[in-house]
Amino acid sequence: MGYEMKKSIKDIDLKKKKVLLRVDYNVPINDNGEVEDDTRIKESLPTVKYLLEQGCSLIMMSHLGRPKGKIEPKYSLKPVSKKLEQLLGKKVIMAEGIVDEKTKTVAYELKSGEILLLENIRFDSREEKNDENFAKELVSLVGKDGVFVQDAFGSVHRAHTSTYAVAKFLPSVAGFLLEKEIKYFDKILNSPERPFVAILGGAKVSDKIEVIDNLMNKVDAIIIGGAMAYTFLLARGISVGNSLVEKDKVDLAKDLLKKAQEKGINLFLPIDHILANKIDKDAQTKECTVVDIPEGFIGVDIGQHSIDRISGIIKGAKTIVWNGPMGVFEIEKFQNGTKQVAILVAQATENGAISVVGGGDSVSAVKKFSVADKISHISTGGGASLELLEGKVLPGIDVLQNK
Ligand code: 3PG
Repeated sequence: MGYEMKKSIKDIDLKKKKVLLRVDYNVPINDNGEVEDDTRIKESLPTVKYLLEQGCSLIMMSHLGRPKGKIEPKYSLKPVSKKLEQLLGKKVIMAEGIVDEKTKTVAYELKSGEILLLENIRFDSREEKNDENFAKELVSLVGKDGVFVQDAFGSVHRAHTSTYAVAKFLPSVAGFLLEKEIKYFDKILNSPERPFVAILGGAKVSDKIEVIDNLMNKVDAIIIGGAMAYTFLLARGISVGNSLVEKDKVDLAKDLLKKAQEKGINLFLPIDHILANKIDKDAQTKECTVVDIPEGFIGVDIGQHSIDRISGIIKGAKTIVWNGPMGVFEIEKFQNGTKQVAILVAQATENGAISVVGGGDSVSAVKKFSVADKISHISTGGGASLELLEGKVLPGIDVLQNK
């Protein structure tokens, strides 16, 4: 990947600099207008604190949601600034806008140790266009002696103004969170301890095609669960009842199965299931101890025989990457497969494996089943972590200075 060669904030002199800091504070906000999950904010603190210790003044930028270039109060970063203030125990000045005159004045007058958080960068329609004029306006907030620090791992797969264009006009380096994410992905993708096992789940094969394709060149085994497993089972000629399938992806699933066989990769598909008559907490459920699913039933989780087989594979692993749940784990009756996988990954990690969990649902699962602190690395990126697993070069990393 070569990303480990990018400069970080430890590699340059930052004493009393004005820093334009990109973070990913795209966090859930509840109906009371409060931050529901502050993980991404907490994960940015080591970089923020380090920069403050260097006497920097910080002009921070992030997006929240997809307001599509319009000012929408529900996507304001105000609740985030309160949360950041609380976590830091320090005043955070919340800007009224992004590059309006008032915000510019506050930015120009910002002193060493002070923090200004700009409003949602996507309130400006130029953000998603990777616009150089907008970039120059943002850069003017820190002046020509300023520095750009990229710590928004969750956003580095976007070539937007605040993740790409700004880096063309300032010395640009990675923050600690970005550096940590790169370190783990680089390790598992380029020099994994073996056996290396990938656990992939979730609803759609289409979301994971390129991940499966790329990982086939790297892993020793792939475990597939979740609704996407039924498209693969159909491709093997197995009946899947009324389970969720992508009919137009069956041929592609066949190709992937063939490729796995040619490469000698152990591609595991569920051999038994938990079935329901509908995807609902009040659904009637039953165990299906064989692989074929009868008509009228939907597969909603993997069964006990599958868990037993998976257990053997995960226990022997030295490197594990997990993206996507094994079933509809949000509903208690359908959560066991995902829960057991979370526990197995945690146990393997305690026994010395390196584990990386990415993607919103699997991250929620390790938290829900109280094993988050046992995982080696929980990625803060959804789309970004998937694109790394796909083997793509991420523009927001690529644009940073090399060591
Ligand atoms: C995320 O939550 O995955 C990132 O913040 C990226 O958000 P986006 O998909 O709206 O660009």
